[in-house]
Amino acid sequence: MNVQQKEQLVAQIDALREQYAAYKNKGLQLDMSRGKPGADQLDITMDMLGCVTAEEGYIAANGFDARNYGVLDGLPEAKALFASIFGMPAEQVIVGGNSSLNMMFDYIATAYSRGVCGNTPWCQQGEVYFLCPSPGYDRHFAVTEYFGIKMIPVDMTPAGPDMEQVEKHIKDARVKGMWCVPMYSNPQGITYADETVRRLAAMRPAASDFRIMWDNAYGLHHLVDDGDSLLPIYPELEKQGQEDMVIQFTSTSKISFPGAGVAALAASPANIADIKKRMTVQTIGHDKLNMLRHVRYFKDLDSIRAHMKRHAAIMRPKFQTVLDMLEQRLGDLGIAQWHTPKGGYFISVDLMPGAARRTVELLKEAGVAMTPAGATYPYGQDPHDSNLRIAPSYPTVEELQQAMELFCVCAQLACAEKLLES
Ligand SMILES: Cc1ncc(COP(=O)(O)O)c(C=O)c1O
Repeated sequence: MNVQQKEQLVAQIDALREQYAAYKNKGLQLDMSRGKPGADQLDITMDMLGCVTAEEGYIAANGFDARNYGVLDGLPEAKALFASIFGMPAEQVIVGGNSSLNMMFDYIATAYSRGVCGNTPWCQQGEVYFLCPSPGYDRHFAVTEYFGIKMIPVDMTPAGPDMEQVEKHIKDARVKGMWCVPMYSNPQGITYADETVRRLAAMRPAASDFRIMWDNAYGLHHLVDDGDSLLPIYPELEKQGQEDMVIQFTSTSKISFPGAGVAALAASPANIADIKKRMTVQTIGHDKLNMLRHVRYFKDLDSIRAHMKRHAAIMRPKFQTVLDMLEQRLGDLGIAQWHTPKGGYFISVDLMPGAARRTVELLKEAGVAMTPAGATYPYGQDPHDSNLRIAPSYPTVEELQQAMELFCVCAQLACAEKLLES
Protein backbone atom coordinates (compact mmCIF):
# COMPACT_ATOMS: atom_id res chain seq x y z
CA MET A 1 0.00 0.00 0.00
CA ASN A 2 1.49 3.38 -0.98
CA VAL A 3 1.30 6.50 1.22
CA GLN A 4 -1.72 7.93 -0.58
CA GLN A 5 -3.67 4.66 -0.30
CA LYS A 6 -2.81 4.49 3.38
CA GLU A 7 -4.08 8.02 3.96
CA GLN A 8 -7.32 7.17 2.17
CA LEU A 9 -7.77 4.08 4.32
CA VAL A 10 -7.17 6.02 7.54
CA ALA A 11 -9.75 8.62 6.47
CA GLN A 12 -12.20 5.83 5.66
CA ILE A 13 -11.67 4.26 9.08
CA ASP A 14 -12.28 7.64 10.77
CA ALA A 15 -15.54 8.06 8.87
CA LEU A 16 -16.67 4.52 9.73
CA ARG A 17 -15.79 5.07 13.40
CA GLU A 18 -17.99 8.15 13.40
CA GLN A 19 -20.90 6.20 11.92
CA TYR A 20 -20.30 3.42 14.42
CA ALA A 21 -20.31 5.84 17.36
CA ALA A 22 -23.66 7.24 16.20
CA TYR A 23 -25.18 3.72 16.19
CA LYS A 24 -23.63 2.98 19.56
CA ASN A 25 -25.32 6.04 21.03
CA LYS A 26 -28.70 4.64 20.01
CA GLY A 27 -28.41 2.01 22.78
CA LEU A 28 -29.65 -0.82 20.55
CA GLN A 29 -30.59 -4.21 21.99
CA LEU A 30 -30.95 -6.60 19.09
CA ASP A 31 -30.24 -10.28 18.54
CA MET A 32 -29.31 -12.03 15.30
CA SER A 33 -27.79 -15.05 17.04
CA ARG A 34 -30.78 -17.26 17.63
CA GLY A 35 -31.92 -19.68 14.95
CA LYS A 36 -35.38 -19.91 16.34
CA PRO A 37 -38.81 -19.06 15.02
CA GLY A 38 -40.35 -15.70 15.87
CA ALA A 39 -43.46 -15.57 18.03
CA ASP A 40 -45.55 -14.92 14.89
CA GLN A 41 -44.39 -18.29 13.55
CA LEU A 42 -45.19 -20.06 16.81
CA ASP A 43 -48.66 -18.54 16.72
CA ILE A 44 -49.64 -20.40 13.54
CA THR A 45 -49.48 -23.79 15.27
CA MET A 46 -51.39 -22.92 18.45
CA ASP A 47 -54.50 -24.89 17.43
CA MET A 48 -52.44 -28.05 17.84
CA LEU A 49 -52.68 -27.66 21.58
CA GLY A 50 -56.42 -28.33 21.36
CA CYS A 51 -56.04 -31.51 19.31
CA VAL A 52 -56.03 -34.02 22.15
CA THR A 53 -59.31 -33.72 24.02
CA ALA A 54 -61.66 -35.95 25.97
CA GLU A 55 -64.12 -35.88 23.03
CA GLU A 56 -61.54 -37.03 20.52
CA GLY A 57 -60.08 -39.48 23.00
CA TYR A 58 -56.57 -40.63 23.71
CA ILE A 59 -56.56 -44.02 22.05
CA ALA A 60 -53.95 -44.58 19.35
CA ALA A 61 -54.24 -46.71 16.20
CA ASN A 62 -52.85 -49.73 18.02
CA GLY A 63 -55.52 -49.41 20.73
CA PHE A 64 -53.00 -47.99 23.13
CA ASP A 65 -53.99 -45.31 25.64
CA ALA A 66 -51.58 -42.51 24.79
CA ARG A 67 -51.80 -41.18 28.35
CA ASN A 68 -50.05 -44.20 29.78
CA TYR A 69 -46.57 -45.73 29.91
CA GLY A 70 -45.33 -47.86 27.03
CA VAL A 71 -44.73 -48.04 23.25
CA LEU A 72 -41.00 -47.70 22.91
CA ASP A 73 -40.59 -46.59 19.32
CA GLY A 74 -43.61 -44.33 18.88
CA LEU A 75 -47.33 -44.59 18.13
CA PRO A 76 -48.03 -46.30 14.80
CA GLU A 77 -49.64 -43.18 13.33
CA ALA A 78 -46.63 -41.05 14.38
CA LYS A 79 -44.26 -43.60 12.83
CA ALA A 80 -46.32 -43.51 9.64
CA LEU A 81 -46.15 -39.70 9.50
CA PHE A 82 -42.37 -39.66 9.96
CA ALA A 83 -42.01 -42.57 7.53
CA SER A 84 -43.57 -40.33 4.89
CA ILE A 85 -41.20 -37.49 5.83
CA PHE A 86 -38.13 -39.76 5.62
CA GLY A 87 -39.43 -41.75 2.65
CA MET A 88 -38.69 -44.88 4.65
CA PRO A 89 -40.80 -47.87 5.79
CA ALA A 90 -42.47 -47.25 9.16
CA GLU A 91 -40.72 -50.32 10.67
CA GLN A 92 -37.43 -48.51 10.09
CA VAL A 93 -38.48 -45.41 12.00
CA ILE A 94 -38.21 -44.65 15.71
CA VAL A 95 -40.18 -41.69 17.02
CA GLY A 96 -38.48 -40.18 20.04
CA GLY A 97 -38.93 -37.25 22.38
CA ASN A 98 -38.82 -33.55 21.73
CA SER A 99 -35.32 -33.23 20.29
CA SER A 100 -33.41 -34.80 17.41
CA LEU A 101 -30.17 -33.42 18.84
CA ASN A 102 -30.90 -35.49 21.91
CA MET A 103 -31.33 -38.61 19.72
CA MET A 104 -28.01 -37.83 18.03
CA PHE A 105 -26.30 -37.36 21.38
CA ASP A 106 -27.69 -40.70 22.55
CA TYR A 107 -26.48 -42.42 19.40
CA ILE A 108 -22.94 -41.08 19.80
CA ALA A 109 -22.97 -41.79 23.54
CA THR A 110 -23.93 -45.41 22.88
CA ALA A 111 -21.40 -45.87 20.07
CA TYR A 112 -18.76 -44.42 22.35
CA SER A 113 -19.57 -46.39 25.49
CA ARG A 114 -21.17 -49.62 24.18
CA GLY A 115 -20.20 -49.85 20.52
CA VAL A 116 -22.11 -49.83 17.23
CA CYS A 117 -23.99 -53.06 16.42
CA GLY A 118 -21.72 -55.30 18.49
CA ASN A 119 -18.45 -53.57 17.55
CA THR A 120 -15.87 -52.57 20.15
CA PRO A 121 -16.93 -49.30 21.85
CA TRP A 122 -15.18 -46.28 20.36
CA CYS A 123 -13.85 -45.43 23.82
CA GLN A 124 -11.81 -48.65 23.76
CA GLN A 125 -10.29 -48.03 20.35
CA GLY A 126 -7.77 -45.34 21.29
CA GLU A 127 -8.01 -42.00 19.56
CA VAL A 128 -11.05 -41.81 17.26
CA TYR A 129 -12.09 -39.15 14.76
CA PHE A 130 -15.18 -37.61 13.19
CA LEU A 131 -15.45 -35.72 9.91
CA CYS A 132 -17.01 -32.31 10.31
CA PRO A 133 -18.05 -30.46 7.15
CA SER A 134 -17.36 -26.82 8.04
CA PRO A 135 -18.81 -24.34 8.45
CA GLY A 136 -21.36 -26.48 10.23
CA TYR A 137 -23.71 -26.74 13.20
CA ASP A 138 -21.93 -25.86 16.45
CA ARG A 139 -24.02 -28.24 18.56
CA HIS A 140 -22.95 -31.23 16.44
CA PHE A 141 -19.36 -30.26 17.09
CA ALA A 142 -20.11 -29.84 20.80
CA VAL A 143 -21.42 -33.43 21.00
CA THR A 144 -18.29 -34.97 19.45
CA GLU A 145 -16.05 -32.70 21.51
CA TYR A 146 -17.90 -33.74 24.70
CA PHE A 147 -16.87 -37.36 24.14
CA GLY A 148 -13.31 -36.43 23.27
CA ILE A 149 -13.80 -37.58 19.66
CA LYS A 150 -11.25 -35.66 17.61
CA MET A 151 -12.81 -33.56 14.89
CA ILE A 152 -11.45 -33.21 11.39
CA PRO A 153 -12.85 -30.23 9.45
CA VAL A 154 -13.85 -30.93 5.86
CA ASP A 155 -14.41 -28.02 3.48
CA MET A 156 -17.90 -27.33 2.24
CA THR A 157 -18.39 -26.76 -1.49
CA PRO A 158 -21.57 -25.55 -3.23
CA ALA A 159 -22.37 -29.27 -3.78
CA GLY A 160 -21.83 -30.33 -0.15
CA PRO A 161 -18.74 -31.62 1.65
CA ASP A 162 -15.54 -31.84 -0.40
CA MET A 163 -15.73 -35.52 -1.29
CA GLU A 164 -12.04 -35.81 -2.21
CA GLN A 165 -11.19 -34.91 1.38
CA VAL A 166 -13.87 -37.22 2.79
CA GLU A 167 -12.75 -40.18 0.66
CA LYS A 168 -9.16 -39.66 1.74
CA HIS A 169 -9.97 -39.55 5.46
CA ILE A 170 -12.21 -42.64 5.56
CA LYS A 171 -9.26 -44.82 4.60
CA ASP A 172 -8.19 -44.45 8.22
CA ALA A 173 -10.07 -46.93 10.47
CA ARG A 174 -9.83 -44.45 13.36
CA VAL A 175 -12.30 -42.22 11.50
CA LYS A 176 -15.64 -43.36 12.89
CA GLY A 177 -18.19 -41.08 11.36
CA MET A 178 -19.30 -37.85 9.86
CA TRP A 179 -21.85 -35.11 10.55
CA CYS A 180 -24.05 -34.12 7.62
CA VAL A 181 -26.85 -31.57 7.32
CA PRO A 182 -27.74 -32.53 3.76
CA MET A 183 -30.46 -30.01 3.04
CA TYR A 184 -30.28 -26.26 3.60
CA SER A 185 -27.22 -26.83 5.75
CA ASN A 186 -26.63 -24.84 8.90
CA PRO A 187 -25.26 -22.20 8.31
CA GLN A 188 -24.78 -22.00 4.52
CA GLY A 189 -28.15 -23.25 3.29
CA ILE A 190 -26.41 -25.66 0.92
CA THR A 191 -28.26 -28.77 -0.31
CA TYR A 192 -26.03 -31.69 -1.21
CA ALA A 193 -25.93 -32.41 -4.93
CA ASP A 194 -27.22 -35.81 -6.12
CA GLU A 195 -23.66 -36.76 -7.01
CA THR A 196 -22.49 -35.99 -3.47
CA VAL A 197 -25.26 -38.17 -2.00
CA ARG A 198 -24.29 -41.00 -4.38
CA ARG A 199 -20.60 -40.70 -3.53
CA LEU A 200 -21.34 -40.73 0.19
CA ALA A 201 -23.52 -43.84 -0.22
CA ALA A 202 -20.79 -45.55 -2.25
CA MET A 203 -18.10 -45.03 0.39
CA ARG A 204 -16.28 -48.02 1.81
CA PRO A 205 -14.80 -46.67 5.06
CA ALA A 206 -11.97 -48.65 6.64
CA ALA A 207 -13.91 -48.63 9.94
CA SER A 208 -16.76 -51.16 9.93
CA ASP A 209 -18.40 -49.10 12.67
CA PHE A 210 -18.35 -45.86 10.64
CA ARG A 211 -21.65 -43.96 10.79
CA ILE A 212 -22.93 -40.91 8.94
CA MET A 213 -25.17 -38.75 11.16
CA TRP A 214 -27.60 -37.56 8.47
CA ASP A 215 -29.34 -34.66 10.21
CA ASN A 216 -32.11 -33.58 7.87
CA ALA A 217 -33.34 -30.86 10.22
CA TYR A 218 -34.35 -28.54 7.35
CA GLY A 219 -35.72 -31.06 4.84
CA LEU A 220 -39.12 -29.34 4.65
CA HIS A 221 -37.99 -25.79 5.34
CA HIS A 222 -38.19 -24.15 1.92
CA LEU A 223 -38.30 -20.36 1.73
CA VAL A 224 -39.36 -20.25 -1.90
CA ASP A 225 -41.68 -22.27 -4.15
CA ASP A 226 -38.83 -23.56 -6.32
CA GLY A 227 -36.83 -24.86 -3.36
CA ASP A 228 -33.99 -27.37 -3.51
CA SER A 229 -34.54 -31.10 -3.56
CA LEU A 230 -32.39 -33.76 -1.94
CA LEU A 231 -31.75 -37.19 -3.39
CA PRO A 232 -32.99 -39.71 -0.79
CA ILE A 233 -29.93 -41.48 0.53
CA TYR A 234 -31.40 -44.81 1.63
CA PRO A 235 -32.14 -46.20 -1.87
CA GLU A 236 -28.56 -45.25 -2.83
CA LEU A 237 -27.25 -47.10 0.23
CA GLU A 238 -29.33 -50.14 -0.76
CA LYS A 239 -27.83 -50.11 -4.25
CA GLN A 240 -24.39 -50.16 -2.65
CA GLY A 241 -25.24 -52.70 0.07
CA GLN A 242 -24.28 -50.01 2.61
CA GLU A 243 -27.60 -49.55 4.42
CA ASP A 244 -26.01 -49.67 7.86
CA MET A 245 -23.72 -46.68 7.26
CA VAL A 246 -26.30 -43.90 7.77
CA ILE A 247 -28.61 -42.89 10.61
CA GLN A 248 -31.17 -40.27 9.52
CA PHE A 249 -32.63 -37.73 11.94
CA THR A 250 -35.29 -35.07 11.83
CA SER A 251 -37.78 -33.26 14.05
CA THR A 252 -40.73 -30.91 13.98
CA SER A 253 -38.90 -28.34 16.12
CA LYS A 254 -39.16 -25.64 13.45
CA ILE A 255 -42.42 -26.99 12.06
CA SER A 256 -44.43 -26.89 15.28
CA PHE A 257 -42.67 -25.85 18.49
CA PRO A 258 -38.93 -25.91 19.24
CA GLY A 259 -38.52 -27.80 22.48
CA ALA A 260 -42.07 -29.16 22.28
CA GLY A 261 -42.03 -30.85 18.89
CA VAL A 262 -41.44 -34.48 18.03
CA ALA A 263 -38.14 -35.97 16.86
CA ALA A 264 -37.48 -39.16 14.93
CA LEU A 265 -34.77 -41.24 13.34
CA ALA A 266 -34.73 -43.72 10.47
CA ALA A 267 -32.13 -46.38 9.75
CA SER A 268 -31.46 -49.92 8.52
CA PRO A 269 -33.15 -52.84 10.32
CA ALA A 270 -29.83 -53.75 12.01
CA ASN A 271 -29.33 -50.22 13.30
CA ILE A 272 -32.95 -49.96 14.44
CA ALA A 273 -32.62 -53.20 16.43
CA ASP A 274 -29.35 -51.95 17.96
CA ILE A 275 -30.88 -48.60 18.97
CA LYS A 276 -34.01 -50.21 20.41
CA LYS A 277 -31.85 -52.45 22.60
CA ARG A 278 -30.46 -49.37 24.30
CA MET A 279 -33.85 -47.64 24.44
CA THR A 280 -35.45 -50.49 26.39
CA VAL A 281 -33.09 -49.57 29.22
CA GLN A 282 -33.32 -45.84 28.68
CA THR A 283 -37.07 -45.16 28.73
CA ILE A 284 -40.51 -46.73 29.03
CA GLY A 285 -41.66 -44.59 26.14
CA HIS A 286 -41.65 -41.01 24.95
CA ASP A 287 -44.44 -38.41 25.08
CA LYS A 288 -47.24 -40.11 23.15
CA LEU A 289 -49.77 -37.35 23.80
CA ASN A 290 -47.51 -34.97 21.91
CA MET A 291 -47.20 -37.52 19.08
CA LEU A 292 -50.99 -37.75 18.96
CA ARG A 293 -51.30 -33.97 18.96
CA HIS A 294 -48.92 -33.71 16.01
CA VAL A 295 -50.57 -36.49 14.03
CA ARG A 296 -54.07 -35.13 14.54
CA TYR A 297 -53.01 -31.60 13.68
CA PHE A 298 -50.84 -32.32 10.65
CA LYS A 299 -52.51 -35.51 9.35
CA ASP A 300 -50.14 -36.03 6.42
CA LEU A 301 -47.10 -34.78 4.56
CA ASP A 302 -49.09 -32.54 2.21
CA SER A 303 -50.58 -30.69 5.12
CA ILE A 304 -47.11 -30.24 6.68
CA ARG A 305 -45.91 -28.83 3.35
CA ALA A 306 -48.81 -26.35 3.32
CA HIS A 307 -47.98 -25.40 6.91
CA MET A 308 -44.33 -24.80 5.95
CA LYS A 309 -45.49 -22.35 3.28
CA ARG A 310 -47.04 -20.28 6.04
CA HIS A 311 -43.71 -20.30 7.89
CA ALA A 312 -41.94 -19.32 4.67
CA ALA A 313 -44.28 -16.37 4.11
CA ILE A 314 -43.25 -15.00 7.51
CA MET A 315 -39.54 -15.74 7.06
CA ARG A 316 -39.08 -14.52 3.48
CA PRO A 317 -39.23 -10.75 4.15
CA LYS A 318 -36.71 -11.20 6.96
CA PHE A 319 -34.24 -13.07 4.76
CA GLN A 320 -34.81 -10.50 2.01
CA THR A 321 -34.04 -7.64 4.41
CA VAL A 322 -30.71 -9.19 5.32
CA LEU A 323 -29.81 -10.00 1.72
CA ASP A 324 -30.83 -6.54 0.43
CA MET A 325 -28.77 -4.84 3.08
CA LEU A 326 -25.71 -6.98 2.34
CA GLU A 327 -26.06 -6.24 -1.36
CA GLN A 328 -26.61 -2.49 -0.92
CA ARG A 329 -23.91 -1.88 1.66
CA LEU A 330 -21.25 -4.51 0.96
CA GLY A 331 -22.06 -5.65 -2.57
CA ASP A 332 -19.32 -3.76 -4.42
CA LEU A 333 -16.62 -3.67 -1.77
CA GLY A 334 -15.02 -7.06 -2.34
CA ILE A 335 -14.78 -7.72 1.41
CA ALA A 336 -17.67 -10.15 1.87
CA GLN A 337 -19.35 -13.10 0.20
CA TRP A 338 -22.60 -14.74 1.13
CA HIS A 339 -25.06 -17.40 0.04
CA THR A 340 -28.67 -16.79 -0.96
CA PRO A 341 -30.33 -19.85 0.53
CA LYS A 342 -33.61 -21.24 -0.77
CA GLY A 343 -34.47 -22.59 2.65
CA GLY A 344 -33.28 -23.27 6.17
CA TYR A 345 -32.70 -20.78 8.92
CA PHE A 346 -29.46 -18.94 8.25
CA ILE A 347 -27.45 -16.65 6.03
CA SER A 348 -23.76 -17.37 6.10
CA VAL A 349 -21.37 -14.50 5.42
CA ASP A 350 -17.66 -14.89 4.72
CA LEU A 351 -15.73 -11.72 5.44
CA MET A 352 -12.19 -10.89 4.49
CA PRO A 353 -9.93 -13.25 6.49
CA GLY A 354 -9.20 -11.99 9.99
CA ALA A 355 -12.28 -9.75 10.27
CA ALA A 356 -15.02 -11.96 11.72
CA ARG A 357 -14.11 -11.87 15.40
CA ARG A 358 -13.60 -8.10 15.36
CA THR A 359 -16.95 -7.58 13.61
CA VAL A 360 -18.80 -9.57 16.29
CA GLU A 361 -16.95 -7.67 19.02
CA LEU A 362 -17.93 -4.31 17.52
CA LEU A 363 -21.55 -5.43 17.14
CA LYS A 364 -21.67 -6.64 20.73
CA GLU A 365 -20.33 -3.34 22.06
CA ALA A 366 -23.08 -1.56 20.17
CA GLY A 367 -25.85 -3.85 21.43
CA VAL A 368 -26.27 -6.45 18.65
CA ALA A 369 -25.79 -10.12 19.58
CA MET A 370 -24.40 -12.48 16.95
CA THR A 371 -23.40 -16.15 17.03
CA PRO A 372 -19.75 -15.99 18.15
CA ALA A 373 -17.22 -15.93 15.33
CA GLY A 374 -15.66 -19.37 14.97
CA ALA A 375 -18.74 -21.18 16.34
CA THR A 376 -19.39 -22.73 12.94
CA TYR A 377 -16.06 -24.62 13.06
CA PRO A 378 -14.88 -27.53 15.23
CA TYR A 379 -13.42 -26.32 18.55
CA GLY A 380 -14.73 -22.82 17.72
CA GLN A 381 -11.71 -22.26 15.50
CA ASP A 382 -12.33 -20.77 12.10
CA PRO A 383 -8.91 -21.06 10.42
CA HIS A 384 -9.59 -17.89 8.44
CA ASP A 385 -11.55 -15.97 11.10
CA SER A 386 -13.95 -15.22 8.30
CA ASN A 387 -17.33 -16.94 8.71
CA LEU A 388 -20.35 -15.36 10.41
CA ARG A 389 -23.82 -16.82 10.82
CA ILE A 390 -26.82 -14.52 10.64
CA ALA A 391 -30.11 -15.83 12.00
CA PRO A 392 -32.90 -13.67 10.56
CA SER A 393 -35.94 -15.53 11.96
CA TYR A 394 -36.32 -14.12 15.46
CA PRO A 395 -36.11 -10.30 15.16
CA THR A 396 -38.79 -8.25 13.39
CA VAL A 397 -38.07 -6.82 9.92
CA GLU A 398 -37.55 -3.37 11.47
CA GLU A 399 -35.10 -4.74 14.03
CA LEU A 400 -33.24 -6.63 11.32
CA GLN A 401 -32.99 -3.49 9.22
CA GLN A 402 -31.27 -1.66 12.08
CA ALA A 403 -29.10 -4.60 13.08
CA MET A 404 -27.96 -5.13 9.49
CA GLU A 405 -27.14 -1.46 8.96
CA LEU A 406 -24.84 -1.73 11.93
CA PHE A 407 -23.54 -5.12 10.81
CA CYS A 408 -22.41 -3.61 7.52
CA VAL A 409 -20.67 -0.69 9.25
CA CYS A 410 -18.91 -3.05 11.67
CA ALA A 411 -17.86 -5.44 8.89
CA GLN A 412 -16.43 -2.55 6.85
CA LEU A 413 -14.62 -1.15 9.87
CA ALA A 414 -13.15 -4.53 10.87
CA CYS A 415 -11.98 -5.17 7.30
CA ALA A 416 -10.49 -1.69 6.95
CA GLU A 417 -8.63 -2.06 10.26
CA LYS A 418 -7.33 -5.44 9.07
CA LEU A 419 -6.13 -3.93 5.79
CA LEU A 420 -4.33 -1.15 7.65
CA GLU A 421 -2.56 -3.74 9.81
CA SER A 422 -1.35 -5.78 6.85
C1 LIG B 1 -28.85 -28.78 11.86
C2 LIG B 1 -29.66 -28.81 13.10
N1 LIG B 1 -29.93 -29.99 13.67
C3 LIG B 1 -30.65 -30.09 14.80
C4 LIG B 1 -31.13 -28.96 15.42
C5 LIG B 1 -31.90 -29.10 16.70
O1 LIG B 1 -32.96 -29.97 16.49
P1 LIG B 1 -33.91 -30.41 17.66
O2 LIG B 1 -34.69 -29.25 18.11
O3 LIG B 1 -34.75 -31.48 17.01
O4 LIG B 1 -33.05 -30.99 18.75
C6 LIG B 1 -30.88 -27.70 14.88
C7 LIG B 1 -31.35 -26.48 15.54
O5 LIG B 1 -31.00 -25.39 15.24
C8 LIG B 1 -30.11 -27.63 13.69
O6 LIG B 1 -29.81 -26.46 13.11
